[in-house]
Amino acid sequence: LEDAKIVEHEIMGDPQLGMMRLVFKTEIAKEAHPGQFVQLKVSSGLDPLLRRPISIAGVDTDKNEITLLYRLKGKGTKVLAQAKPGDELNLLGPLGQGFTIPQSGTLYLVAGGIGAFPLLPLAQKALEQGVKVCLFWGGENQRFLESAGMHLWEDLGITIEVSTMDGSMGIQGTVLDLLRNHELTESGQVAVCGPMMMMASVNEFFKETDFEVEASLEERMGCGVGACLGCVCTLQDEQGKLRRGKVCKDGPVFKAKEVVW
Ligand code: FES
Repeated sequence: LEDAKIVEHEIMGDPQLGMMRLVFKTEIAKEAHPGQFVQLKVSSGLDPLLRRPISIAGVDTDKNEITLLYRLKGKGTKVLAQAKPGDELNLLGPLGQGFTIPQSGTLYLVAGGIGAFPLLPLAQKALEQGVKVCLFWGGENQRFLESAGMHLWEDLGITIEVSTMDGSMGIQGTVLDLLRNHELTESGQVAVCGPMMMMASVNEFFKETDFEVEASLEERMGCGVGACLGCVCTLQDEQGKLRRGKVCKDGPVFKAKEVVW
């Protein structure tokens, strides 16, 4: 638990879409692993709604900074949006279990909407390992994808394939249509984040292949610290034996085949 200073806080792209970029100077940068999140107290006061789990979307170990990307939605994020550079907010983290970092081959990232946010630090780390990274990203339209940080992905210099519902950017359709349209290598690693339905279909898509798929279930998180039980999910082992898991503690990243979708 530490009070961390805000270095930057800005709107990304179209203000109506409410995409925000928030940078903190914090020691968390030293330990953060891709896929982990922080628990942020958006202001002083006891209201639990004023604590928010937000995934880490960027790490700069030289500057000791982490970047959080979030979309304005509900009371907590509205209060958070008021915070200014120089302000200090209480941070807890890094929390949860993150993604496996591939050491070779190709890493395919599959993102639905703002599910792209937690995949950014994974791409960064994989590139450092000399791994080839390819992003498949589905969103509503061009305006959405550009406001949700397309430029951050372009800066990485990786292969990016997009789909939009209205065809204003990339192919018209879903991210699943994108995957079906592409020749993928024989095997490799896949990381997916987005709405539950979309992740379930991505898991289905790769089922009969040798791809290892990991999914971030961050959409299912509530308090972020094991207190609300709002994040309980059902998991299965290879024999099909079921057990309960907490998204905030045992995840948010799970092996996709272990999740009972
Ligand atoms: Fe509250 Fe996991 S998010 S217990």
